[in-house]
Amino acid sequence: MTRLKGKTAIITGATGGIGEATAKLFLEQGANVMLVGRSLDKLQGSLERLGASASLSHCVADAVDETATAAAVAATVKLFGGIDILFANAGLEGIMSPIESIRMEDFETVLRTNVLGVWLAMKHCVEPMKKQGGGSIIATASVAGMVGFGNGAPYIASKHAVIGLMKTAALELAPAGIRVNAIAPGPIDNRMIRSIETQFVPEDPDAMRAVMFSKIAMGRYGTNEEVADLVSFLASNQSSYCTGGIFAIDGGYTTA
Ligand SMILES: NC(=O)c1ccc[n+]([C@@H]2O[C@H](COP(=O)([O-])OP(=O)(O)OC[C@H]3O[C@@H](n4cnc5c(N)ncnc54)[C@H](OP(=O)(O)O)[C@@H]3O)[C@@H](O)[C@H]2O)c1
Repeated sequence: MTRLKGKTAIITGATGGIGEATAKLFLEQGANVMLVGRSLDKLQGSLERLGASASLSHCVADAVDETATAAAVAATVKLFGGIDILFANAGLEGIMSPIESIRMEDFETVLRTNVLGVWLAMKHCVEPMKKQGGGSIIATASVAGMVGFGNGAPYIASKHAVIGLMKTAALELAPAGIRVNAIAPGPIDNRMIRSIETQFVPEDPDAMRAVMFSKIAMGRYGTNEEVADLVSFLASNQSSYCTGGIFAIDGGYTTA
């Protein structure tokens, strides 16, 4: 399938499970892809797995470093001639702990990365997208942006904020032809969910997995590839009437 042929995408959190799977699918679908990550080592690992090509490049930028983020956007425009798609996906789960025991700096790290990081990527992609008459921005929220759960205050607050940011951007940017949507994955089978399992039940993370499965109508975690398919739809012209939407991909987790 070549539904992204001729489009250029910038992906943050590209070295993670969802980001790299999305980069792989975007490349298969004909897009140029700029991988953005904060670790050069991890970026090099992703590049090796994805395979060198003229359609693929990378930039090192911490999600909360505005200068580096602006430079990554500028490098993308210089190399590929513009930006059609932003997948603002970098994020971290942070500490899972009761409200009264969370340290200020731990809460701040999650908010800065998950909220300011998404905003900064959006901020610097707006102008190039406007210049070429439109684009598609997809922000990674979570089911944690739609419902709460105990011991997850920083993550829950940050992902609710991503939804608010997405809604504001969708309203502001619709006249410029820029669509803005959020994805809300449920538990996805990768590093992040393993960290969450381990934080909740350090002595038996598999037991936590069983509890999670029992809360999901489909009785399993999602895969990075399933999320990538949704992101590709939102990135493509096939979602041309979608903006301001929260697209759950959670096996029915938020349905009950
Ligand atoms: N996995 C799930 O169950 C799940 C569910 C709902 C939503 N999500 C969301 O999906 C997104 C992608 O996560 P994932 O599931 O693919 O987990 P992951 O494998 O842990 O990927 C997270 C990515 O974000 C990057 N990142 C974290 N902090 C950063 C920073 N300060 N600057 C730049 N990059 C940073 C990580 O880079 P490093 O590797 O260098 O740390 C990594 O590339 C996140 O926003 C997450 O909240 C995940």
